[in-house]
Amino acid sequence: MTSREIGSTTPDPVVAIQPASLLSRTGSLEVQPGEVCLWSFELDVDEATRAQCARFLSPDERSRAARFAFPLLRERFVVAHGVLRHILARHLGLEATDLRFDAQPHGKPVVAGPHGRRLSFNLSHSEHRAVLAVGDGREIGVDLERVRPDLASFQLARSTFAAPNSEVLLGLPAHRQVPAFFRYWVAKEAVLKGEGEGLGLPVDSFEIAFERAGLARVTPRECLARPRRLDDPECPSGRNGRVAVAARGRD
Ligand SMILES: CC(C)(COP(=O)(O)OP(=O)(O)OC[C@H]1O[C@@H](n2cnc3c(N)ncnc32)[C@H](O)[C@@H]1OP(=O)(O)O)[C@@H](O)C(=O)NCCC(=O)NCCS
Repeated sequence: MTSREIGSTTPDPVVAIQPASLLSRTGSLEVQPGEVCLWSFELDVDEATRAQCARFLSPDERSRAARFAFPLLRERFVVAHGVLRHILARHLGLEATDLRFDAQPHGKPVVAGPHGRRLSFNLSHSEHRAVLAVGDGREIGVDLERVRPDLASFQLARSTFAAPNSEVLLGLPAHRQVPAFFRYWVAKEAVLKGEGEGLGLPVDSFEIAFERAGLARVTPRECLARPRRLDDPECPSGRNGRVAVAARGRD
């Protein structure tokens, strides 16, 4: 693992697109080398839009959707995956129904075949909102979380973050701990998702240093012996939550 850059932002300033307006566009999309495009969209939509999304799904995706016990979760899954297919298909010049996916060993979905070498993606959803990151083929990860004060706890911080990160968090005044907790959380989850290892990557195996507005650097464990400056993780807490994107590489 080399260093990674993480962009972090609240979703509030990121416009959440209505899927109906997204699906009405068919022009081709491009992601430039070194770029990550971030799409933020709503999952609670009207019946007609949902039906349009459902038509794009593969038999596997349909059976996954059917396994949700709660209709709301099933409907959100259909929209998330329908929009994902629509956007990726526009990048690849394919029909949404023609896209094929493979899964990496820990389940991270990737575009199947040679297309996957030039187009990478990662999806995150939280309640009625989804975020899709599309990259130039390099490994990317994205995480969206609603800021939930009930989830942020000292115990979870200690078991989730590398010791220097949890020390910074726990040293903050109480009113700054929840937003900071989620800033670290989405950054860390985005890296885990970028690596595609899920729970296979120890949570204390890397440390996150916030370096300048909106950007952080990840230090793998083998470098942790080197002293690093940890910036103050204070951040504006968005009304809905936070998003972080991790991309492999130094550029
Ligand atoms: C699989 C995992 C990455 C999903 O994360 P999540 O926060 O529950 O859910 P998100 O909405 O962000 O992401 C889900 C999407 O990620 C993608 N995904 C699935 N497995 C993945 C993996 N191993 N790596 C990256 N992305 C994955 C899928 O597109 C999935 O969408 P789908 O379920 O609709 O198909 C998660 O369960 C996990 O293992 N996370 C790491 C655990 C951890 O220790 N976190 C500590 C917090 S810092």
